[in-house]
Amino acid sequence: MKTIQITSIQKNYKIVIKNNLLNHLSDYLDVNKLYVIISDDKIPFEYIERVQKACPNNLIITFPEGEKSKSFEQYERIISILQDNNVTRDACIIALGGGVTGDLSGFIASTYLRGLDLIQIPTSLLAQIDSSVGGKVAINTEKAKNSVGSFYPPSLVLIDPLTLKTLSLRHFNNGMAEMIKYGMIYSKDLFDKILNDEVKENLEYFIYESLIIKKFFVENDEFDKGLRQILNFGHTYGHAYEAYYNFKRYFHGESIALGMLDVCDNEIVKEELLKILHKYNLPTKDSVDKDSLVPYIKNDKKQTKEYLNLIVVDEIGKAKIKKVRL
Ligand code: GLY
Repeated sequence: MKTIQITSIQKNYKIVIKNNLLNHLSDYLDVNKLYVIISDDKIPFEYIERVQKACPNNLIITFPEGEKSKSFEQYERIISILQDNNVTRDACIIALGGGVTGDLSGFIASTYLRGLDLIQIPTSLLAQIDSSVGGKVAINTEKAKNSVGSFYPPSLVLIDPLTLKTLSLRHFNNGMAEMIKYGMIYSKDLFDKILNDEVKENLEYFIYESLIIKKFFVENDEFDKGLRQILNFGHTYGHAYEAYYNFKRYFHGESIALGMLDVCDNEIVKEELLKILHKYNLPTKDSVDKDSLVPYIKNDKKQTKEYLNLIVVDEIGKAKIKKVRL
């Protein structure tokens, strides 16, 4: 078992990483509390059952799988279910699932009755190493991803790496893109281990190492004013690919893989990046003309009126913010 403590201006919280944690949830949940378990409709039902077993007083709400559910429509529907069930402020929301579940449930937790307690139980690699930690919660609008949201830290993050065993290889590799990103921006050592070792054989270690990097950025810039933007390496073009293809062609991590390559000018770094992306079967080419992505980049919330903060990596393990005029 590994634990990480996150210090936050809003709320300090603990991350627990432990194989088979889903079978020990009663150690972390309060039998007397009402837990609202929010999941998508593709989550293995046994995961819901295991959470239910640890909290007999529960309400389960599901929504259709996929990025399209980070919408006002699903937000309103779920809020209405909470109201119909008279869910009060002393209840706790459990986000059980991948990144979409964490973002949507987190946004609901942050706004319903001005804030309910939130526990993240991420079951995809992407959610375990990135979106469940750091407090960013959001839904999308037609024009831009994550454009309506807030910073709302969970009170606890419970990670069971064994849930990754049921993920398809494509979903697993999707998460690997974010792990590769951590290596690119902060740790050559992690990058080399991802390239040379079997990540699947030592998941607790790789998840822990990724989250230690995330911890550094979120603790030093919780509200994403400067340093934390380095976590957006690959995301400027990445988000544009996702939006251009209407969230249908690529998973998030796959578009980030393309986005990292697009901002890589150094040939040696690019060669290493290509090697590692190939190892995890991530896309390295897309036929779209870059000019067609510009309107999507302009809509992205991470830019100011005058310029764009582009994250660049000229040496593996070191990133910097470059201001680019639009
Ligand atoms: N996923 C990027 C961040 O949390 O800032």
